[in-house]
Amino acid sequence: MAISPPEQRIWWNEPIGRNEVLWIGIGLIWCIIMFFMMPYWHLEGQQNPPTEGYRISSDDYATKAEAAAAEYTVGTWGETDVPVVSPPPGSDIYMIARLWEWWPVFELQKGETYRLHLASLDWLHGFSLQPVNLNLQIHPGYEMVATITPTETGEFGIVCNEFCGIGHHLMLGKMIVVEK
Ligand code: CUA
Repeated sequence: MAISPPEQRIWWNEPIGRNEVLWIGIGLIWCIIMFFMMPYWHLEGQQNPPTEGYRISSDDYATKAEAAAAEYTVGTWGETDVPVVSPPPGSDIYMIARLWEWWPVFELQKGETYRLHLASLDWLHGFSLQPVNLNLQIHPGYEMVATITPTETGEFGIVCNEFCGIGHHLMLGKMIVVEK
């Protein structure tokens, strides 16, 4: 018991018991397995992280994203004043993450490729496209670019999966894929 003094004053200098050696051995082997899982998963896990990213100020990104959205706005989303933007296939599209929204709503065409730019204007957010499990951390000051080609039509939800404050659970967006 830890609350009574040890029988041996130099308690830490006794020979290690067999069970303890066994558990240390198991722990060490597990550490090594987990360590080698990192390169293994990187190469064989079919991960597909974007490799394109740029430093950008929030103001510059907002200006760029708002100008791009204004050019191809086709309406607003539901009861909100969030624009629905229908950019031409093959183009660069710019999404803003901020407290607490994903802006704007894109209407994309099935089978066409887009370069999706993402940046946060304030704090760390997590872009999670449902239910296809596309996940990206969105940092302020960095513009990440993911090349996407929608393969199904429908409405896809975007949730924030990095805790970003009191409205985190309300930070929802939408991506619409249509057949043209
Ligand atoms: Cu944005 Cu959580």
